[in-house]
Amino acid sequence: MSTTIISERINNLSESATLKMTKLGRELAAKGVDVISLSVGEPDFNTPSYVKEAAKKALDDNFTRYSPVPGYPELRKAIVEKLKAENNLDYDVSQIVVSTGAKQSLSNAILTTINPGDEVIIPTPYWVSYSEMVTLAEGKSVFINSTIESDFKITPEELEAAITPKTKLFMFSSPCNPTGSVYNKAELEALAKVFEKHPEIYIISDEIYEHINFVDKHESIAQFPSIKDRVILINGFSKAYAMTGWRLGYLAASKEIAAANDKLQGQTTSGTCSIAQRAGIAAYEGGLETVLKMKEAFARRRELVYNLLKEIPGVKTNLPEGAFYFFPDISSFFGKKDPAGNVIKDSADLALYLLNEGHIATVGGDSFGNNNYIRLSYAAADDKLVEALKRMKAALAELI
Ligand SMILES: Cc1ncc(COP(=O)(O)O)c(C=O)c1O
Repeated sequence: MSTTIISERINNLSESATLKMTKLGRELAAKGVDVISLSVGEPDFNTPSYVKEAAKKALDDNFTRYSPVPGYPELRKAIVEKLKAENNLDYDVSQIVVSTGAKQSLSNAILTTINPGDEVIIPTPYWVSYSEMVTLAEGKSVFINSTIESDFKITPEELEAAITPKTKLFMFSSPCNPTGSVYNKAELEALAKVFEKHPEIYIISDEIYEHINFVDKHESIAQFPSIKDRVILINGFSKAYAMTGWRLGYLAASKEIAAANDKLQGQTTSGTCSIAQRAGIAAYEGGLETVLKMKEAFARRRELVYNLLKEIPGVKTNLPEGAFYFFPDISSFFGKKDPAGNVIKDSADLALYLLNEGHIATVGGDSFGNNNYIRLSYAAADDKLVEALKRMKAALAELI
């Protein structure tokens, strides 16, 4: 008989590595250590004031009761208009389901499509929660490995080779967390051609970083009519509008999938926070001005970190095209010893060493499915980034 009340489902679930490193960093900081956090995945900006004003007004106007489960019609309409204006994608309001963050939309999408044993193809490196969500739904993650040499992108041939009769979903983010890689239109079209040959496979396209793209305009895999009905597009307000704490995201999908998500949400969380939803309407109605300002700051920091990272012996990096992360190869340090004589065996050891010795919080690549790397977020002030990279260089030089 089991000795714990906790279900196997939860016992078998991994703790989120990014949240764990953030927690360890905070604990060290609470002891008075000056820790610089490069572990969090959130903009260091405040929510735009016009969005905050809309939330205050929502309270005064008594938007304090249950909302419809898939979100207020006005918000879903604003999302439809955004998808048309910014992405040239046609959706009906009935195809939009608003949730408590893109994270819930992703989890809902998996729970509504995956039966036990179904396979979900995930290119690595991937966002920490993808495979755990698949496990919760009793599906099986099938990974396609990619490395820095291909800018962490997969080819149509690799996709084709991973497909089996059990494949139900393909799931990816572009721009990608943790690598910052961005698939261009031609690359997406090549993947779409593979899906054309496999009409039973659905695609979860996580586009939460769409506005943090330094090379081109955002391209969605939902733009290809032959597969659009099978794309479950995920997006939200956290990254574009610095609204991580508001917990507001959504999915856009076929009517069948949207209705199933509505049903699931109706039995679990109900509609997300009424005030956050009213703020979301204001965010989309307010346009992209603040988003573009944030992007400018991220572009500057990307250059800064890139130039500093390139100078660190033993670290191999590319120049990511989007999001606000670097994912450098640090495997040359494996097998080396720190000044206390401990051997650095893997990326988790290196991240812990950098935290304890260099006082910078990063996240080991093993939790993103690629152990040879670590993830650095550059959603931090410029002077903090300069200091963090200086510390990283000094701490790594101590490894022999
Ligand atoms: C790739 C990716 N998808 C989804 C999310 C979740 O976003 P939200 O805050 O809307 O739940 C994140 C947050 O870090 C992310 O990096």
